[in-house]
Amino acid sequence: MSTVVDTDILIVGSGPAGASAALALSTYGVPNIVVTRYASLADTPRAHITNQRTMEVLRDLGVEQDVVAQATPQHLMGNTTFCTSLAGEELGRVRSWGNDPLVQAEHELASPTRMCDMPQHLMEPVLVNAAVARGTRLRFETEYLSHTQDAHGVTATVRDRLRGDTYEIRAKYLIGADGGRSKVAADAGLPMGGQMGVAGSINIVFEADLAKYTAHRPSTLYWVLAPGATVGGIGAGLVRCVRPWNEWLIVWGYDVDAGAPNLTTEYAESVVRKLVGDDDIPVTIKSSSAWTVNEMYAERYANGRVFCAGDAVHRHPPSNGLGSNTSIQDAYNLAWKLRLVLDGTAHPRLLDSYTAERAPVGRQIVTRANQSIRETAPVFEALDGLSPQTPEQLWANIAARKDATEAAEKQRTRLREAIAFKVYEFNAHGVDLNQRYASDAIVPDGTPDPGFTRDPELHHQPSSRPGARLPHAWITSGTRTLSTLDTVGRGRFTLLTGIGGEDWVRAAEAQDVEIATVVIGPGQEYEDPYGDWARLRETSDAGALLVRPDGFVAFRHATAAPDAGERLADALRRILGHA
Ligand code: FDA
Repeated sequence: MSTVVDTDILIVGSGPAGASAALALSTYGVPNIVVTRYASLADTPRAHITNQRTMEVLRDLGVEQDVVAQATPQHLMGNTTFCTSLAGEELGRVRSWGNDPLVQAEHELASPTRMCDMPQHLMEPVLVNAAVARGTRLRFETEYLSHTQDAHGVTATVRDRLRGDTYEIRAKYLIGADGGRSKVAADAGLPMGGQMGVAGSINIVFEADLAKYTAHRPSTLYWVLAPGATVGGIGAGLVRCVRPWNEWLIVWGYDVDAGAPNLTTEYAESVVRKLVGDDDIPVTIKSSSAWTVNEMYAERYANGRVFCAGDAVHRHPPSNGLGSNTSIQDAYNLAWKLRLVLDGTAHPRLLDSYTAERAPVGRQIVTRANQSIRETAPVFEALDGLSPQTPEQLWANIAARKDATEAAEKQRTRLREAIAFKVYEFNAHGVDLNQRYASDAIVPDGTPDPGFTRDPELHHQPSSRPGARLPHAWITSGTRTLSTLDTVGRGRFTLLTGIGGEDWVRAAEAQDVEIATVVIGPGQEYEDPYGDWARLRETSDAGALLVRPDGFVAFRHATAAPDAGERLADALRRILGHA
């Protein structure tokens, strides 16, 4: 081993977390290297649901339209169906992923972006291509082996799997985005709570023209209640659309104590036949793999100069579609902080806010995703189908719901209610958007936490209180209509104010840190013709919001302030870790 390669940030892993960290850092001009173990990016669909917050991140990083161009659009995602097989009986549907008219309105009010379905094997190239185009140096077939750290940096030993030799990469910081079996997190000694291997699951990727069973009820997910569907897995058998309507992925459980079955093509075909329910449709199996449902999260996301993101620090099933979303959002939270520490604008203490802000989110989504699995049981219970003695018994229970009896009516009601309750998995808009950060990089304004007026898992509640994401409102600039979120980001702080906020603007311009200023009001650069911003901003016209590069409000003052300069300088000192 001889060569030592230098960089500012070494990223291990090219999945959603590593690729988006690289993209954000390169967008901000921070030198970085990505090493990734395999010769290619993800070669199977894996994560796919892409929520509005992630789309906002991608919008800021300039790749939103690349994703929209390839993703399945929101209106084809929304009829989550429960059935005995695709060709079999339908038991009910949930309008999902913002496709319920009321929820759709909430989506439209919450964000300039639309949710979409972007399979991981298509998402990763978008992120990685843009990162490399902006300066990321990417090394495939390069495996992280170990690291040491000192006061000035981290030295990682990696192995070139093509040549077989090892070399060292010296970086100022290391990001472990190396997934659910993270060696970086283990080597950094990040304490993990929870349990791995809660249940066993198999993914089967296949091609088949299933339009006749799906195009009339377009959906990302079709859940199958069939014999064996409660063994392991993620609540029931799942037929997931990868590309409408001929590329698919089935998730089917196995008994984790007995070990994964032998994943032969014959076995995969038998599962596909069971869930599709039509033996005449030609099916081509592309791949099968076994994985386990995990319920684990790290209490701390960093140790010294080593930071972990994504599945490395939160491991959970795909329920609610939170895997790559949370991974991308972790990276986005971390990247601007690293940049400001590296260029000397911020004290390294700023980096402590990464764990403080993201670990509670990780814990929440791990818990939510696992709870969503458990909340499928009542659908089976409504049909007395949790542990039927025989398949015939299950089919008889399902058929019994059609009887003109009081008992059958009760069964129908229970089934409807159990299916409707699954909105916590398929329409949890609040889980996607209600993150509130509390850390030293947020300056409280002394107002009490208003809490949430509606169920915080289901409904998004905008707020400009420090720690919340800047509310979205459509504003105008000349003939252009844009979101308030479009005025922030791009790696810099932004100060938003209105008429009478001149002191805030002058104060922002006088700081050493780059702060964009946005004045919204009649006759200003930005106008609020619908009055939406005035309703959402929770300040007077002359008040101010200081928004961080990641779109979160860091400081708020409700009114004009003659001492705006001092107030802003003090807030920035605290946010940047100098106080
Ligand atoms: P991710 O696992 O995507 O990436 C880790 C990266 O690190 C990879 O590039 C890997 O090669 C690299 N790496 C690992 N060890 C390394 C080392 N020592 N040296 C160098 N590189 C190393 N989610 C979901 O919502 N729906 C789904 O259906 C599925 N299905 C699914 C199937 C399979 C087979 C897997 C593995 C995962 C899923 N997931 C999923 C989970 C989802 O894919 C996951 O939440 C995100 O990919 C997490 O992104 P990360 O970037 O954190 O890790």
